[in-house]
Formats: sequence, structure tokens, C-alpha cells
Amino acid sequence: MKKYLVSCLLFLILTSWLQGQSLKARIKIDLERQVGDIDPLIYGNFTEHLGRCIYGGIYDPNSPVANQDGFRKDVVEATRNLGVTQVRWPGGNFASGYHWTDGIGPREGRPKRKDLAWGDTESNLVGTDEFMQFARQAHVEPYVCVNLGTGSWDEARNWVEYCNAKTGLYYSDLRAKNGHPEPYHVKYWGLGNEMDGPWQMGHRSAEDYSKFALEAAKLMKWSDDSIKLVASGSSFYNAGWMDWNKTVLTTLHDHIDYLSLHHYSGNYDKDHYKFMAITIRVEDIIRLTEGLINEVRDLYKMEKPIYIAFDEYNVWYRAENAQKLEEHYNMQDVLVVAMYLNTFLRHANVVKMANMAQLVNVIAPMMVTNGKLWLQTIYYPLQLFALHCKGHSLETFLECDKYDAGDFKQVPYLDVSSVYNEQTKEVFINVVNRHLDKSIETSIASQFGKWASQATVYEVNSQNLTDENTAEMQKVKTKETTINTGSEGFTYSFPAHSFTMIKVKLK
Ligand code: AHR
Repeated sequence: MKKYLVSCLLFLILTSWLQGQSLKARIKIDLERQVGDIDPLIYGNFTEHLGRCIYGGIYDPNSPVANQDGFRKDVVEATRNLGVTQVRWPGGNFASGYHWTDGIGPREGRPKRKDLAWGDTESNLVGTDEFMQFARQAHVEPYVCVNLGTGSWDEARNWVEYCNAKTGLYYSDLRAKNGHPEPYHVKYWGLGNEMDGPWQMGHRSAEDYSKFALEAAKLMKWSDDSIKLVASGSSFYNAGWMDWNKTVLTTLHDHIDYLSLHHYSGNYDKDHYKFMAITIRVEDIIRLTEGLINEVRDLYKMEKPIYIAFDEYNVWYRAENAQKLEEHYNMQDVLVVAMYLNTFLRHANVVKMANMAQLVNVIAPMMVTNGKLWLQTIYYPLQLFALHCKGHSLETFLECDKYDAGDFKQVPYLDVSSVYNEQTKEVFINVVNRHLDKSIETSIASQFGKWASQATVYEVNSQNLTDENTAEMQKVKTKETTINTGSEGFTYSFPAHSFTMIKVKLK
């Protein structure tokens, strides 16, 4: 018995000692190994007529913080501070039943309609002119998704005319009559939303969607040949998801500039390590889609690129329709959002647009509770990337321990991307430590150029993965510190379950 107790004790001491030990890793940064130029459009968000995103989110004329146009000043300001570059609108599933002419002209004359996507009554108080105003105030590019569900080709081309044509045509004159003589020059247009999904109003087969979208694309580009079009690609990944993309790309290749992809993540099994591996799947989806794009471009001997617009991504698994998708985010979700962004950066050659779904209240980085705006945990990683990661994305050498979880094999504990901004001569190293309880001591070497003697560290972390922010308390936020570095590199210990961005300047 005594022997048994002693060996138990030794075992406990050994395991707790092992747990206390940090793991080791190596990162090498080479400024000449560039993946591609980072398109600032990858730092986008999304506003849909859904729950309290538009009404009670961006627009709330009765709020004491509303500006003269009815937009919440705090939401406008937090959007600017987030560094977001473009915002998609009006949906989402909502777009597939939306008739844009309902939302223009004097407000008293606008019809109330039942939105079949989410079951709400749409007041149409916010329509095209209001959204353009919001976009201008928030300093973002508008990205409009047309209705290729219940809508028509004419509706799509007329919307382009309303937004982009000089006065002198029926719809541009209508815009002027509504108080906006100058065109909005909306450059980015989506050809429908998630048309691959049976939940979508007007869902079609890949062939039918592609034929329908092709005619819409022609008419829209003939209305304004400077616009860029995004075809509706895969939004769920069943056995045949690649076939959908192949048909869309083959039929529309000449007419589109982007293929859209969507992906949402959830910790359904309450398994931290499986959840932390989810963006490995996102990486596969991007690689496979890039392969299809290359195949089609090669087949048609195309010079024009086709890029990926990852125009919906986020963590979303707790808030169902009844709660109008008001997801409350925690520290664990920060890591997943940072890994989505790392993944997009690692594929910066082909992912040229991305949209966190959404912007406010609905699966969003900011929330309004009892009239007060507060920032969710996932605001911080997006803000760090959007404000800092500009320039060239680099291929990063990484060597570290790995783990297996479910179907995911050999997942590195660290998830890394790096960026070189030629203008400012700054390098950014973005690291998620997936490990639950171990820090990872990492040697970071510069393969090209000497580094300054100090670096700035931005860390998003919290004691518990379940820590959330509330209207009263910001438990999870960015903390900034300065560290000493060496000209050829330095060692940094990435804390357990953290997201860290290190900014180091070239000498
Ligand atoms: O962002 C919420 C919904 O998720 C969008 O309306 C739809 O496109 C997706 O399924």
C-alpha cells in the first residue's frame, strides 16, 4: 500500500512538473519569401437585415446617441476604430428575397414586408441611400449583394444604374430625385448569396444558378463595366461541394472577379483541441478552390485572375434563430478568429476579400445592450490584423510540437502568419498558441535583414478560455508591451491559449 501511494505521489509530481514545462518551437522569417500582396479588402464585415444588426445596431433614430441621419454614433466610431475596409449588405439570406426598390424614396411610402429568410417584418426604413450614407460615415467601401433568389436580371442591372450611373437615366434620375445626384460608384457586387443551400429563397442547381447569374452578370457589367463581381460559391461542405464551385467557375469564368466561400465554426463537441484545428479545414477548402480556379483559368487560357472572396466567416454555434443570432464570444473564440485571419494571410495570393459575419449585435464583434455599445472579445484580433497587417504576406517557417484531435492529425500547437510592410519597414508575426495550459518558448529568427533592438507585443488573452466581455467589463482585450530583441532574432514565450502579434522594425 505504502509503495502504491509513493508511486502515485511520484506520478502526480512528475505530471505536474511536465505540465509546468513549456514546449519549444522555431519560427524563421524571410522577407524575400512572399506569398502575395495583402488586399486590405480581407478586413471586411457584413451587415444584414437580421435581428438587431441594422435596426437597433447601425440605425436607431430614437437613441440619444443617434446622429442626424439616425445612425448610432458609437457604432460608426467603433467601426472606424476596427479598421474595417468594406461592408457587405443587405444579406445574407435576406438578400435573396429583397427588392431594393422597396427601400428608396420617401420613408412614409416604403412598404412593410415579411422577410421569409428570418421571419421578421422589414420596415424598409434603411435602404440603398441610407446604407451608402452609413458606409461613408464609417469610412468603409460598400459591397452590395443582389437578389438572385426571387429577384430578376432587370432588378440587378437597375440597382447598378441607381447606384453608379450619372444622372440622365431613369434610375440615376430617381437617385437624384431622392436627394443624391452624385453616383455612389459601388465597385463590389455579389451575384446572390449561398445559392448552393436549400435554405436559400430561390435555391437552384449549380447549372441553373450559373446560367441565371451569367445573364445577371452581363447586364450588370454592361450597366457599369468598372464593377467587380463575386459569384456565389460553396457555403457548406458536403460531398459534392467542389462540383458546385467547378460548375460556377466554368460557366461564369469570363464574367466574375471573385468566387465567394463561407465558413462558420463551432465547438460542438466541447473539445478544445478539435475546435482549435477547425481552420485546418478552412485551409483545405481554400487550397482546393484555388486548384479549381487554376484548372478553369488554364482551360480557358485566361489572363484575368479570379480570386476568393471569403465573404462570411466567424464562430457561430450558440445563438440560434430565436435569439436572433446574438452570439456572446469568449476567449476561445478569439483564437479561432485569429486563425481564420492567419489562414487568409497565408493564402494572400488568392484570398483577396473576406468578411467577418457580421458587424453589430448579430454574430458580431460589437454589441449594443440596453443602449450601451461594448466590444466583444473577437473585436480585438480583427482590429489588430486590420490596423497592422498590410503589405506582403510571408511564407513562415515553423517547427513545433503537434497533436491529433478527431479527424485532425498532426496539428501544430502554434498557428502562425507573418507580414512585411515595405513602407514602414515593419514585420508582424502573428501567433496563436493553441495549447490549453503550456506556454511555448519560441526562437524567432530573421533570415533577411537586421531587426531593431525592441519590439512591440500585442497580446489578447485571459485567464480562462470561457472569459467573455460584457457591457460592464472588458475582461478580454489587447494588452501592449515592449520587449528587447536581437538584430538576428530573439526568443519569446507564447502563453497558453493566447493570440500574440509581435511588431518588429527593420534596422
Ligand atoms: O450570417 C448569418 C447567415 O449565415 C447569413 O444570412 C447566411 O448567408 C449564412 O448562412
